[in-house]
Amino acid sequence: MKIGILGAGGIARTMARTLNEMKDVKLYAVASRSQEKAYQFAAEFQAVKAYGSYEAMLQDKEVELVYIATPHSHHYTHMKLCLKYGKHVLCEKSFTQNAAQAQEVLKLAEQKGLLCTEAIWPRYMPMARVIRQILESGEIGAPAALSANLGYPIFGVERIRRPELAGGALLDIGVYVLTFASLFFGDDISRIDSSVVMADTGVDSQESITLTYRDGRIATLYCTAQALTDRQGVISGSEGFLVVENINNFQKADIYDHNRRLIRTVPCPPQITGYEYEVASAVKAIQEGKTECPEMPHSETLFIMRLMDSLRDQWGMKYPNE
Ligand SMILES: NC(=O)c1ccc[n+]([C@@H]2O[C@H](COP(=O)([O-])OP(=O)(O)OC[C@H]3O[C@@H](n4cnc5c(N)ncnc54)[C@H](OP(=O)(O)O)[C@@H]3O)[C@@H](O)[C@H]2O)c1
Repeated sequence: MKIGILGAGGIARTMARTLNEMKDVKLYAVASRSQEKAYQFAAEFQAVKAYGSYEAMLQDKEVELVYIATPHSHHYTHMKLCLKYGKHVLCEKSFTQNAAQAQEVLKLAEQKGLLCTEAIWPRYMPMARVIRQILESGEIGAPAALSANLGYPIFGVERIRRPELAGGALLDIGVYVLTFASLFFGDDISRIDSSVVMADTGVDSQESITLTYRDGRIATLYCTAQALTDRQGVISGSEGFLVVENINNFQKADIYDHNRRLIRTVPCPPQITGYEYEVASAVKAIQEGKTECPEMPHSETLFIMRLMDSLRDQWGMKYPNE
């Protein structure tokens, strides 16, 4: 399958490297707002075509799937543009700025019969399934509490600082802690509590979030764009607990018994970068004529966007065009 990358920034480079190591997919084209940048990117990653505008790449009939790697503020417009040109879409997280935008885009994809899926990589990783199976096996008893954190000192980065790029910790980093909770505790939430630190630019720089589930389970999460954190996710059950190293890119899961003794470690299977799973899932869904991937159905993208909308409502935080 021929893939085009839209936006030649940081994550686009990692994706290009990933595609070049995958079988059955080809990094066919790259599009940048700058022709020079597109040429350089194409030369470095052996893309066949280099386009100096996004729309020019979308007019290329050979491009089948477009990977969108632009700031959050632009995902809505860029996805709509891709769908207009009949392209399947794999769009970076966070999917859009808000749930209303997500709903509109997903409706359009369904109307056109095109795949449109969110590139939130842990969802597609085999470790997500493995951890679910461990929980379902009862090895740690009945799971009751979960914690997860993620932080990088990236507040100086333009894309994170600026409200007009839909910056802030939530859409960039918070989406991963919410994903971790959603993956393993589901979505039947009865209460959302949070505390936020707002930066002088008008976006959130760090926050803590507590999700209480209708059946009495609880998830305590925090994310920060100001500091490095251990990236751990811990799931506690009546018979033991499970510690996941790096909720952003699963490394391993350590399982402890009721005496807090380590009983076994489940390593992450070998991978290229970890981004190959979302691509493989998107390709499979397209080949099967589906508009969504089973690992991240549209309903789940909408759920996470609504959760983030309600957190921003609690904080009184809006992006400039809302
Ligand atoms: N899955 C992950 O692990 C991961 C990691 C990092 C980022 N991301 C996600 O990937 C997306 C891009 O992040 P990034 O770190 O790659 O960002 P980045 O390095 O700033 O690149 C974004 C690219 O978007 C394009 N763009 C279009 N309009 C723009 C505008 N008005 N301002 C700035 N750039 C604009 C630019 O490409 P051209 O100049 O070539 O047009 C730019 O290079 C975000 O959604 C982010 O959340 C995901």
